[in-house]
Amino acid sequence: WRIEKPKNEPFLEFRPGTKERELLKKKLEEVKSKTVEIPLIIGGKEVKTGETVEIRAPHDKDAVLAVAHLAGEEEIRDAIEKALDAWTKWSEMEWYHRASVFLKAADLLAGPYRLEADAVIMLNHSKTPWEAEIDLAELVDFWRFGAYYARFIFEQQPEQAPGELNRVEWRPLEGFVFAVPPFNFFSIGGNLPTAPALVGNVSIWKPSRWVIYSNYIIMRILMEAGLPPGVVNFVPFNTKYSSIVLSHPDFAGLHFTGSYSTFVRLWKMIAQNLDKYRNFPRIVGETGGKDFIVVHPSADITEAVVATIRGAFEYQGQKCSAASRLFVPKSMWPRFWEAMKAELDKVKVGPVDDFTVFMGAIISEEQFRKIVSYIEYAKQHPEEYQIIYGGKYDDSKGYFIWPTVVLTNNPKGKLMTEEIFGPVLTVYVYDDDKYDEILWVVDKAAPYGLTGSVFAKDREAILKAEKALRYAAGNFYINDKPTGSIVARQPFGGARWSGTNDKAGWFTNLLRWLNPRSIKETL
Ligand code: ALA
Repeated sequence: WRIEKPKNEPFLEFRPGTKERELLKKKLEEVKSKTVEIPLIIGGKEVKTGETVEIRAPHDKDAVLAVAHLAGEEEIRDAIEKALDAWTKWSEMEWYHRASVFLKAADLLAGPYRLEADAVIMLNHSKTPWEAEIDLAELVDFWRFGAYYARFIFEQQPEQAPGELNRVEWRPLEGFVFAVPPFNFFSIGGNLPTAPALVGNVSIWKPSRWVIYSNYIIMRILMEAGLPPGVVNFVPFNTKYSSIVLSHPDFAGLHFTGSYSTFVRLWKMIAQNLDKYRNFPRIVGETGGKDFIVVHPSADITEAVVATIRGAFEYQGQKCSAASRLFVPKSMWPRFWEAMKAELDKVKVGPVDDFTVFMGAIISEEQFRKIVSYIEYAKQHPEEYQIIYGGKYDDSKGYFIWPTVVLTNNPKGKLMTEEIFGPVLTVYVYDDDKYDEILWVVDKAAPYGLTGSVFAKDREAILKAEKALRYAAGNFYINDKPTGSIVARQPFGGARWSGTNDKAGWFTNLLRWLNPRSIKETL
C-alpha cells in the first residue's frame, strides 16, 4: 500500500482579533509563568542527574524557562546501550509500522500541541509568531514527507533474470547515529535524530544547549506517538563528552547541522577513531553559509528590497540561509537604498511576545559578542567599511542587535567572506558594466556554497548567474529571498564549506542512513 503524497502544512497567521492569536497569547503566559524541569530520556525513561543548566529567554535574560539535566559519561554510555538494545526490533520492523509513529507525531504537533510548541519556540529561540510557525510546520513536513519517501525507497528493487530471484533488503546502518542539531531551528532539532530513525536506525540526540526546552517538546510528542523506548535517546551533554560517543565501536553515522568549525572538529575525531568502528560511518552535515543576493540592473527594485530585508534580518539573521552580502549596480543604488532605508525604519526590534516585533534577540551572549565584534571591526576600519544603518546593540535586558547595513569598497574583505550569523548585511555597489566580474567574485570570494539569489528581469542575466554560480549555492533562488525553503519543494543544503549537501527532508538524505543488502536466489 501507499501513503498518500502529503501536502505541506499550512501556517497559522495569528492575525489581530483571531481566536488563534488569543490562544497563543494565553499559552505564552502559561509558559512564562513556570520553570519546567527537563530530564534526559534514555530507553524511554526519565533520568535526572542533578547536573543542570538554565534555559533562559534570549530577549529576557531574567526569565528562566526551564532547568535541564545534563548527561555525564555514565548516562551517555547507558543511552548508547539502550539504543543498541532497541535496534534489533526497530531495524527489522516493516517500514509502515515505523512510518505510523512519525505520522502520528506529525498530527500531534500540527494539532493538540501546536500552540504550546509555538509558544515555547518563540520564547526559547526568540522567534516571532510567524517564524515559530514556519519552523513548526517544517518539522511536521519532515515527518510526513519522510514517511512518504521511506515508502518510495523501500519500493525500489533490482532487475530479475531467468533462473534467478533478486531482491534488495533496505537495511539501516549497523549501530547508532549521533544527532547533533543547532539552536536556530526547532525543525532541525527534531529532524536530525528522526530522519535516520524513519528508515530503521536508532539515535543518540544531543540537542543544542540553548534550546533544550523546545527540543524536549519534540521528544515528548515522539513518546506519546508510540516511539518504542531506546529508538531515540534525548541526552543533552557537554561537548567535551562527544569523544565517548565518537569512539564507540557501534558509532555508525553523524547527522549534524551547525558551524563549519565544529563539523571539522567532529570529522577529525571520527577519522582518528576509524579503526575502532565496525563500519565506515556515514557523515552528513549542513554547516555555514555566506549567502548572497545579486541585483542586476534589470531587476524590480521593490521586490529585491523586500527580499533583502526579509532574507537578511528575519530571525535576526541567524538562519544558515540568511543573506549577508548584497551586490547592487551603481545606477540603481540611490533608489535601492532610499527604498530599503524606508523599509528598515519600520523594523521593530524587541521581545517576541509583543506581536508587532519583526526581530527578537540573539540566542546567547557568546553569539551576541561574536556579531558585535564584526560591527566593531567595521567601525575600526573606515577605509574599507561604512556603517550606513544600525550598528546599535544592547544586552542589558536581552541580547538585542539592530539591523545593520555596512557599505564596503572591498567585495573580498572580512565582512564579505566570513560567516557572521547575525543581522549584519554588507553591501558592495558594482559598476553596471561589471556584472560578469561580480558574479565571478560572488562565486570565488567566500568559501561557502549554501544559498543565494539573483534578481533580474533580463533572461540573459539570469542564465549567466545560474551558470556562473553553479556551485556557489546548493539552494539558488531567482527573484526570491534566499531563505525559507519548503520541505519537498526546495530540498535544502549546499556543498563547499556548507556541508555534504545531502538535502534535508528529501529521499537523498534518507538514503544515507541505509545500507542495502542484495540477495540473489538461484531457482
Ligand atoms: N531551510 C531553512 C531556510 O531555507 C534553513 O531558510
